[in-house]
Formats: sequence, C-alpha cells, structure tokens
Amino acid sequence: MKKSVRRAVIAGNWKMNNTPSQAKALIEEMKPLVAGADCDVVLCVPFIDIPVAIEATKGTNIKIGAENVHFKASGAYTGEVSADMLKEAGVEYVVIGHSERRQYFGETDQTVNLRTIAAVNAGLKAIVCVGETLEQRELGYTETLLKYQTKMALTNISAEQLKNIIIAYEPVWAIGTGVTATADQADEGNGFVRAAIAEKYGADVAETVTVQYGGSMNPKNADELVEKVNVDGGLIGGASLKAPDFAAIVKAASK
Ligand code: PGA
Repeated sequence: MKKSVRRAVIAGNWKMNNTPSQAKALIEEMKPLVAGADCDVVLCVPFIDIPVAIEATKGTNIKIGAENVHFKASGAYTGEVSADMLKEAGVEYVVIGHSERRQYFGETDQTVNLRTIAAVNAGLKAIVCVGETLEQRELGYTETLLKYQTKMALTNISAEQLKNIIIAYEPVWAIGTGVTATADQADEGNGFVRAAIAEKYGADVAETVTVQYGGSMNPKNADELVEKVNVDGGLIGGASLKAPDFAAIVKAASK
C-alpha cells in the first residue's frame, strides 16, 4: 500500500563470523557489487571488526552496524559495550534481541526494550528482532506473540524515537535452517508487526516504519519476498557472508 513511504533496508548480520582481516577482504569484495543500490545497505559485524569495517566503507553506501548493545551507559558490566561507545566508533545501526541472543544469552523482552531505548537515545538506529518458534506457530500463537514482542520492545518509546527503529520479523524456525517462510507467511508476520505498531502509534505512523523479514533469505527467494507489501527489505545471515549472494539480495530490494 504505502510501500513508497518506506525505504527498504538490506542488512547483513554476520553473527560470529569473520576476523578483522576477513572482514576487510569481504567488504572490499562487496563494495563495487552494491554501489548504486536503491535501498539502504548495512553490515552488522562483530564488535572487533567495527574499526576495520568503518574504515573500509568510508565514502561508500555501506553503513556499519553492531550485533548487540548494552543498556547501561557505563559501569561494572564486564564484557559489554555501550551505545555511546558504538556511536563514537562510527556505528550507525545495531541489532537488538536477535533470537540467538534470546535463546543462548538470556535476552528477555524487557532487556530488548532497555537496549532499544539506550540505542535510540545515543543516536543509533535499532534493528529489533521478533519472531515465533515452530512450537508457538503450531500452537497458533504467531499473531499474539509477534504483537506482544513488538509492543514490549517499544515500551516507553515515543513516535519520534520510533523513526530510528526497524523491526525485523524473523521466524525462529527459518533462521539458519534453509527453511524460508513463504512470501505469504513473511508478509503475514510483517503485517502482524505493523498492526501492533498501528495499535500503539496509529496506522499512519505504522505505515512509515521499515519492517524487514529475516530467515534463510537468499538470492533465489529475495525477489518474491521483497515484492510483498509489508516486507521492506531483509536481515540476512548466511547469505551476507558471500559477496555475490548479498549483492543479489541488495539488487532485488533495489527494483
Ligand atoms: P539466516 O539468518 O539468513 O542465516 O537464516 C538470519 C538472521 O539470523 O538474521
């Protein structure tokens, strides 16, 4: 419907892959392949790769993101990284609440919310992940769960702050499994997210929010997915580790 008011964002999520030298080599390979893209192009990289990634993408259309951020400004939180640290390093985006963090690192809807607030207050753009497990889907909880996770993540977030938030719908059963949601399932899930935003901020605001799909998105299925009215680009794991594959997805979102 109002897809024209939203810009598609294709964001790579490297997860725990690529040393700094590997990061530099992969970015150098990607740069010419994604130059001139008609969508926003982001690479979310491990903390240790951030300096080299910022340096390698200077003057290009590739923006750099982190994969997590702590919600406190500073203090005795061994191993954590604050939003101000990321901002000063030149980071523009940050992934928050990825299902792997929820699953393996005790991330909750509440900490996702706190991290989101910390990120936008520091001037970062947050890519907040929501998604149901296979069990939740089979029990018929997909809509309830997606709306709940979306609203919880956006607690105490103003409409103004929402301008710097992207929601990524990532069905947990489709992440890294090679099983992609069908384009209709992706559109439906993204639609539930948008409906939750509309319930909280009104339909006009909801139409302006970028809602990505993520989960085994690849060059073969990207066209079909990004054509859907509610799918404003994607969060790409595995396929973002190969320059030609990532570039093909960027191309699909640029049409
Ligand atoms: P995948 O990962 O593309 O490898 O399924 C997506 C994600 O976890 O963001």
